[in-house]
Amino acid sequence: MVTKKRDEFYSGLMVEAFDKITTEAVYKQRATKIVKLIKKHNPKAKTLLEVACGTGNFTKQLAKAGFIITATDISKDEIEKAKTKSIDAKFSVADMSKLRATSKYDVVCCFWESFRYLPNYKVCEDTLKRTFKALKKNGLFFVDFTHFPPHEKPFKIPTYTIKLGNGLVLLKDTHILTRGNHDTRWDEMRYVLRGKDVTGQKIEWGGKSILLKQRLNRAPLLRIDQKRMEQMLAKAGFNILEVQDNFAGCPESVLFVAQKNK
Ligand SMILES: C[S@@+](CC[C@H](N)C(=O)[O-])C[C@H]1O[C@@H](n2cnc3c(N)ncnc32)[C@H](O)[C@@H]1O
Repeated sequence: MVTKKRDEFYSGLMVEAFDKITTEAVYKQRATKIVKLIKKHNPKAKTLLEVACGTGNFTKQLAKAGFIITATDISKDEIEKAKTKSIDAKFSVADMSKLRATSKYDVVCCFWESFRYLPNYKVCEDTLKRTFKALKKNGLFFVDFTHFPPHEKPFKIPTYTIKLGNGLVLLKDTHILTRGNHDTRWDEMRYVLRGKDVTGQKIEWGGKSILLKQRLNRAPLLRIDQKRMEQMLAKAGFNILEVQDNFAGCPESVLFVAQKNK
């Protein structure tokens, strides 16, 4: 039986993978930009909610800037890992699409493609409405994502691979097919393995034989382009303050800064 649980991809696999393929410097650099933008647009901001916080890498950097932080993620494993990192934030397991809070936060953040994990546009719109409600007046919402579509075809020859502790091997560098953007390799991996019960099987990946120890049934990330994000934010009541290209190191990576003016 193939489970359809949406956070399945993260159990074990992502926790291990994400902390291996990301670096503190990357989070530091991005968090510095975010803190500057908060100071610019809502200088009195104190309370911050980070949804889809993963293992707390962004949270750690934002906490250094002195915000009172609540950080949530749908994955219990990721939250457990975050809690081991001595970060000054309140961590809990929560689905951002079910966010229930009224005028509590000065800032809400959703980083590193996490918004694209929502299952469809209706849920995206609903999540934005809930986010809007969770913000105080003048509250800011930050969301980043890459806006080009994932590749339709599986990749061909990865240049090298990364081995995870659980025996799974992920692509380390898929520049042949991903224009150098590391984020898209998750999309490609999902395209290749989606819906297949590959547990216990060996697959050929980049010329290597890989034993898969986990089912991978996640769909590729939702395609969201700038226009759609603009429309969805406006529909939820947000005023868009800034749209920055190149947030995550490639031109297609975009950061939206939106505000609740009412
Ligand atoms: C690519 S990771 C990014 C994690 C973190 N924001 C970072 O920058 O390190 C995507 C995260 O989204 C989380 N996620 C996916 N769907 C979610 C949902 N509906 N509610 C909350 N978190 C979700 C996953 O569990 C995962 O931690």
